[in-house]
Amino acid sequence: MRLFLDTANIDEIREINRWGVLSGVTTNPSLIFKEELDPEQVWKEILAEVDGDVSLETTEPEAAAMYEEGKRLASYAENAIVKVPMTPAGLEAGRRLTNEGTRINVTLVFSPAQAILAAEIGAYIVSPFLGRIDDAAADGMHALRQICEIYETQGYETQVLAASLRHPMHVVESALAGADIATMPYDVFTKLVKHPLTDTGLERFTKDWDELKGKLGKKEGA
Ligand code: G3P
Repeated sequence: MRLFLDTANIDEIREINRWGVLSGVTTNPSLIFKEELDPEQVWKEILAEVDGDVSLETTEPEAAAMYEEGKRLASYAENAIVKVPMTPAGLEAGRRLTNEGTRINVTLVFSPAQAILAAEIGAYIVSPFLGRIDDAAADGMHALRQICEIYETQGYETQVLAASLRHPMHVVESALAGADIATMPYDVFTKLVKHPLTDTGLERFTKDWDELKGKLGKKEGA
């Protein structure tokens, strides 16, 4: 399962990129809004920074305008993936884009039925929003498992991207369910690396090593 950052913040992207595990980035209008910068500048900086897929979201509500916007976003760089919402207009614009070979990510997906539609228009990626399904007192992980099973059974090539992940166990369970990609905020990414036994173990190794160096230093001095 590939790991993506769900952010528009270039500093967060640069930091996680240094770990060597970052395969892509997802953005959305709310994440761009938080940066308070020109969206085009933000997208282009991220596209240049990341050696992998970067999803840029359309905002036009009508299919024709969304299609034109999608073509413009795709032209920014080879690794640009055009996000369209799971709406009739999004399906129409998305189908036109995929027919021309543009890679799209169908977003705001909350059910297996919607995921089937995304696959049928030839989407490159489908993004079920697990955390938001949980927020609505339903089971996001169950929906993800069903989507993965349907895609496997039907032989759909669309990649399943588990989105709206809120904690490390969402990431682990997404991997178990068979998701192709998990996208998560910086906060969740940094929690993946943490374990209290790693911290105490390292503390002990460092202490013993320093003590050994001290003893050997004393012997040499004697
Ligand atoms: O980028 C889409 C998705 O991951 C949003 O997550 O936390 O706003 O529900 P969240």
